[in-house]
Amino acid sequence: MSENVLELSNIVKRFPGILANDHVNLTLKKGEVHALLGENGAGKSTLMNIIYGIYKADEGEIYVNGQRANITSPHKAIEYGIGMIQQHFSLVPSFSVAENVALGLKEFHLFPRIDVIKKRLRELSKKFGLDVKPESRIWQLSAGEQQRVEILKLLYMNSQIMILDEPTAILTPQEAEGLFKTIKEMVKYGASVIFISHKLKEVLEISDRITVMRHGKVVDTLLREEADEKILARKMVGRDVVLRVEKSPPKTGDLKLSVKNLYSRSDKGPFAINGLSLEVRKGEILGIAGVAGNGQRELAESIYGLRDYTGEIEIDGTMLKPLDVHSRINHGVAYVPQDRKGVALCGNLPLYYNLFLKIFTSKQGDFNPYLFNPISLKKPAEALVKEYDVATSSLDLSVKYLSGGNMQKIVLARELTLNPELIIAVHPTRGLDVGAMESVYKILIKARENGAAVLLIAGDLEEIFTLSDRVAVLYEGRIVGYSEPDEEHLEEIGLMMAGIKKERVG
Ligand SMILES: Nc1ncnc2c1ncn2[C@@H]1O[C@H](COP(=O)(O)OP(=O)(O)OP(=O)(O)O)[C@@H](O)[C@H]1O
Ligand SMILES: [Mg+2]
Repeated sequence: MSENVLELSNIVKRFPGILANDHVNLTLKKGEVHALLGENGAGKSTLMNIIYGIYKADEGEIYVNGQRANITSPHKAIEYGIGMIQQHFSLVPSFSVAENVALGLKEFHLFPRIDVIKKRLRELSKKFGLDVKPESRIWQLSAGEQQRVEILKLLYMNSQIMILDEPTAILTPQEAEGLFKTIKEMVKYGASVIFISHKLKEVLEISDRITVMRHGKVVDTLLREEADEKILARKMVGRDVVLRVEKSPPKTGDLKLSVKNLYSRSDKGPFAINGLSLEVRKGEILGIAGVAGNGQRELAESIYGLRDYTGEIEIDGTMLKPLDVHSRINHGVAYVPQDRKGVALCGNLPLYYNLFLKIFTSKQGDFNPYLFNPISLKKPAEALVKEYDVATSSLDLSVKYLSGGNMQKIVLARELTLNPELIIAVHPTRGLDVGAMESVYKILIKARENGAAVLLIAGDLEEIFTLSDRVAVLYEGRIVGYSEPDEEHLEEIGLMMAGIKKERVG
């Protein structure tokens, strides 16, 4: 069966100073999972936004089920049976799941029948294995749960063409497996899926065909059988990529961070950190392994002074107070948070401001206008953009217009260049292409070699193994054990992550 449900013909999209889509041709067959791969800034999200009616193509045509389609808005796209989950979600945090679905309905209802929506949502949740309650408020849900809400919205609207822009970037490996099951179910019911990811393994697992983009152009479309990780990486970045970086044995020094008996609550109310203790020395990378939702976010935020806590957090032997970010910054702490768009960046500010947000304040944290000089900032900004290979048309571009991976590069550039002494990195390579991932690994290892202490919180065990000198396992807000960072200890770590085995201390 090779019926094309969607066909893109010679799509061109220009932004000031950049050709984001350069005569792109792409077909999507009925019942197919078609993966879209490409470097950060290659033009994937732009292309998807055109299909979904958020952007208008400058040139080219779109055909849906063989008919020329004129998609001028997401509303129109939905009428054509197209649904999209964007790289950054678009749910209303204070509304319930059902209310969010009501907002996206094709017909406008002044008083939508919430009970009817809830009932149908329960049916869909069951049928597609999407565990989420229609009554829950969005702000209380984990990222994985929010994504299920987005998928439910598409199913509710009966989308036949589903665009998933980096859906697995925010998922745990277990959640990603769950999503793949759901995708397979959706395809069984006749949907066709465009799936964007930087994780080559996943792409090879889930897709029927794979299209690789570079610099706005389609490089190639392959059948899954024709592809492997090496071939794909090479097509994406134009060179071989090594994700196993060399590192020398750690030269650990003095204690940099000491956390004792820490308690901290999650936004939902209960304690997410339950009497946690850990230590990180200068010159070492401590990897925190754990299933998402076991306190990762609360741990990082407490240490950085963004979340209230009881217990002791000491840096360089100095006891720090809760909710005091500036003393952390003064101690050379860098923070790469999990939510780049919501926490780390000011979307409306130009890219180069975002690179220096941390130096506009005095030691006490007051805004200091003398430190703020746009002209003198441009030169170092330019150097950072070059060093981190940020794809942008201008330093003045509002950072919200950067591609997802390039936003992440801005955060990393800001945090990692001020010679940090303690780096709290939460999912540092989330959304980065394999080439960029390789350079972030090198940067973190270099920081460690220069004597920085690194607390690495990541969902991907492979990443933890590649970078860490020791692994601590976080379970229900406590460190339940330590292990060596290698594949041989995978089972031991897995059991601790599941809360089954409490093991060695050290
Ligand atoms: N509204 C906009 N204004 C200006 N430039 C834009 C806008 N939207 C996208 N761009 C630029 O277009 C290029 C392609 O971005 P796009 O988001 O499509 O990349 P991507 O392939 O999705 O990358 P990633 O893997 O990092 O998500 C980037 O250089 C980006 O900065
Ligand atoms: Mg993107």
